[in-house]
Amino acid sequence: MKKLEVFGATKPKGQIKISGSKNASLPILAATLLSDKKISLTNLPKVKDIETMILLLKSLGSSIEDNKKILTINNNKQIKTFAAYSLVKTMRAGILVLGPLIAKFGKAKVSLPGGCAIGTRPVDIHLQALSKLGVKYKIIQGYVHANAPKGLVGANIKFPKISVGATENLIIASCLAKGKTTLSNCAIEPEIKDLVNFLIKMGCNIKWTSNRTIKIEGIKNLSEIKYKVMPDRIEAGTYLIAAALTEGNLKIVGIDPKIINTEINIIKKLGAKIIQKKNEILIQGSKKIKSINIKTSPYPGFPTDLQAQMMVLLCKANKKSYIREEIFENRFMHVAELNRMGAKISINGNKATIEGNIKFEAAELMATDLRASVSLILAALTAKGKSVINRIYHLDRGYEDIEKKLKKVGAKIRRVN
Ligand code: UD1
Repeated sequence: MKKLEVFGATKPKGQIKISGSKNASLPILAATLLSDKKISLTNLPKVKDIETMILLLKSLGSSIEDNKKILTINNNKQIKTFAAYSLVKTMRAGILVLGPLIAKFGKAKVSLPGGCAIGTRPVDIHLQALSKLGVKYKIIQGYVHANAPKGLVGANIKFPKISVGATENLIIASCLAKGKTTLSNCAIEPEIKDLVNFLIKMGCNIKWTSNRTIKIEGIKNLSEIKYKVMPDRIEAGTYLIAAALTEGNLKIVGIDPKIINTEINIIKKLGAKIIQKKNEILIQGSKKIKSINIKTSPYPGFPTDLQAQMMVLLCKANKKSYIREEIFENRFMHVAELNRMGAKISINGNKATIEGNIKFEAAELMATDLRASVSLILAALTAKGKSVINRIYHLDRGYEDIEKKLKKVGAKIRRVN
């Protein structure tokens, strides 16, 4: 199994280009199932989750051509409506094919996503909301068997809780539902805005009517389009934290700083100097890092996907800090490994207490999930000597070319078998 070796300590310096967003690409790829016209996508990141979604689409019958920079999708042949466990188990976003399949074909059998290290991650909100559009479903042996023999019919739906995936599934499905749908208490992550822009470009009739409310009028025909996926804000946030942590000096290019305003303001408060330009961010990490209390929350709050990375940074603060994880119940898997590197973090329920002034020590480590893996790399960058990070397949699910990008700015990092 592949591992990463990181030799610290490093102060990264130079330029990093941000890749396309994984979390925007996944729902957009699923939404291509709505159309039988040609769709060309650019700026998809080369990461494992995207490969898995492409395999899932191919297993459904999509013709997909990958021409290095452009992915062309054609769903003009017979599409199957069965999404197998083998493909959905590794990636929760597999459930996003349910909305488009049921909307377009009136039936679908989609595996429930597998368990996940960071929490139980149910899909009850997706299913309850779809049933309001006329979907009848049963769960049999780990599969959602969904039917809408008369097609979907628009409805007023208020999500009981903000969910990124449920908002995406419902927006996609409502595009082909008869009549008007209003979705309220929606997630408003930039990736959802990107999905909406993609659907509007295909001809869908969608309007944001207030901050968390969206109105959709169902249509029948979609157009052939080309679409460029937005940049990955979590990747950008990760590299900003890398610089803040190591007194590094980075120019992060290819991302509009406005979409990560919350993160930038927090990292500035902690002491880093940040200059925001139109499509780039310059950061100079500071020797002194201040402490802070933060909690994760839906956008525009602080993202749970940067919680592990931020925790590493707070280990270097001059005083004690606290993080409350409000999105997932079990997203502190990185803590035990960070403590093995010398961190002093204690957990009480969903609250982590992080002692400051920590000097990380190099160690052999085990990655437990995608963002936990990258947090270990960050800590290893600051630790003198060789750290080894096992199970990096988690990392490959979501970070394109991370070793190449870090090497280019001076990190000593390599992949070994
Ligand atoms: C998406 C992101 C993930 C991010 C998360 C929160 C993708 C592919 N993944 O995941 O990286 O960490 O948003 O920003 O975009 N919930 C239910 N029932 C449901 C659905 C969700 O109880 O039917 C709960 C979840 O267990 C979780 C919370 O709601 O506690 C938020 O989950 P959700 O926003 O749906 O996350 P994902 O779409 O899975």
